Amino acid sequence: MEKVEGRNQTPIMEFILLGFGDGPELQPLLFLLFLLFYMVTVAGNLLIVGLVVADRHLHTPMYFFLGNLSIVETLYSSTILPRLLASLQTGNRTISLKGCLMQLYFFGLISATENLLLTAMSYDRYLAICQPLRYAALMNGRVCCQLVTGSWISNMPSCTIGITVLYQLTFCDFKEIDHFFCDVAPLLKLSCSDTQTVQLLLFILAALGTVLPCLLTLGSYVCIIAAILRIPSATGRQKAFSTCSSHLIVVTLYYGITITTYVVPTASTSKVLHKILSIFYTVLNPMINPVIYCLRNKEVNNSLTKATHKLLAVRDRFRIGKDKF
Ligand SMILES: *[C@@H]1O[C@H](CO)[C@@H](O)[C@H](O)[C@H]1NC(C)=O
Repeated sequence: MEKVEGRNQTPIMEFILLGFGDGPELQPLLFLLFLLFYMVTVAGNLLIVGLVVADRHLHTPMYFFLGNLSIVETLYSSTILPRLLASLQTGNRTISLKGCLMQLYFFGLISATENLLLTAMSYDRYLAICQPLRYAALMNGRVCCQLVTGSWISNMPSCTIGITVLYQLTFCDFKEIDHFFCDVAPLLKLSCSDTQTVQLLLFILAALGTVLPCLLTLGSYVCIIAAILRIPSATGRQKAFSTCSSHLIVVTLYYGITITTYVVPTASTSKVLHKILSIFYTVLNPMINPVIYCLRNKEVNNSLTKATHKLLAVRDRFRIGKDKF
């Protein structure tokens, strides 16, 4: 560990995540609330994965990406919620520096992967709507796999660099992080090293991982909407739009919430607001996706209805079988 000039305390290797304050009567309520959110998120997303794998009608690129997006969403909320639940339950709010950086690494990697998957999905819709004749050739199984694998792998170098740089920093004096997970900004505030270059580097990495996919997604949708508006018949326009509307809603909510969380309230006066927005960003966002697809998307909806009927049939058969004995 390097010593920092003018200070000679032992460097801090452990933090306290303050979470949602000290109120003891509030903790059980928060625990139940977040447990509910977590269970709904995992159940909803795994339901989508199950439907996509089991139903042959959903074996198309669009649902292949959706299935993978649901896997990513499940992992995403798993980087934050289990730890938060454990600390709400036990009251132990400490997290080691390594644990903190590990959480940050997976959170960053999975967020960046989600950005790229959403981009891949909008590129898929772009090809389907703007290049319908070449769609099947361009978006074949191999390309789909490459896009998914690429979304994961391409973010690993930048996330590894970011975390390595953070690991070089020294932390002293304060160990309280006023947040419910290890996020970059509150962590940087606690460092007593010079963080200016680190801040710049992390900003560039975050911008590359977020702004670039966001612009590509936006570009795809500009082309898609322009193409839809050129369709002469109203029913044709509606039909084309219905194939991408669920994804458009998911993307809009996702970037809307991300941008609001990270751009708007950075002043220290709005810490509470920032925490609430972070809940939207980290907890509610992964929950919304299955809800939108199950409610709005006809194919997912049909598949869900069929699966429910099948389950009910199995249950009835099981009952009849039991009655015989
Ligand atoms: C996600 O992607 C992987 C690899 O590209 C693929 O094998 C898998 O079937 C996909 N999962 C779902 C649920 O679509």
